Amino acid sequence: MKQKISFILNDSPVAVETDPARRAVDVLREDLGLAGTKEGCGEGECGACSVLIDGVVKLSCLMTAAQLEGKKVVTIEGIAAGGELHPVQRSFVELGAVQCGFCTPGMVITAVGFLKANPQPTREEIRQAMSGNICRCTGYQKIVDAIEDAAKNMRRSGSRG
Ligand code: FES
Ligand code: FES
Repeated sequence: MKQKISFILNDSPVAVETDPARRAVDVLREDLGLAGTKEGCGEGECGACSVLIDGVVKLSCLMTAAQLEGKKVVTIEGIAAGGELHPVQRSFVELGAVQCGFCTPGMVITAVGFLKANPQPTREEIRQAMSGNICRCTGYQKIVDAIEDAAKNMRRSGSRG
């Protein structure tokens, strides 16, 4: 049976009529047309489907639509504010950490959520934070470099992301 589910999506209120047991990743991609959130494994292993729920990184393939009710949801489409790239996005681009389009949205979301909680991380802490975001093609060196760079830039500008 369908149910109306209301939440704040990328700063705008939305409501969807759907089966509350459907996966959040499907509601975001199919019902709301936000295809930036990717589905990789569909089993909570790869991080491609990461979104921010009330500022905390969550895997949308493991969430139901009902769990979005009343929440503040941010997808990759909501990360760049007012047409300006988020410092994490800028560092990813500038330092060549955008390796493929599939894992990058989840990587950026995870990094944004992580830096909110830990604005001055060590490289080891960054590696640890990104360990749930699987990249199957290259190394994580540039990704760690980019997150370290973004953290520095955000501290310098006083941004909390
Ligand atoms: S698709 Fe959700 S963790 Fe892989
Ligand atoms: S860069 Fe996307 S899977 Fe490796």
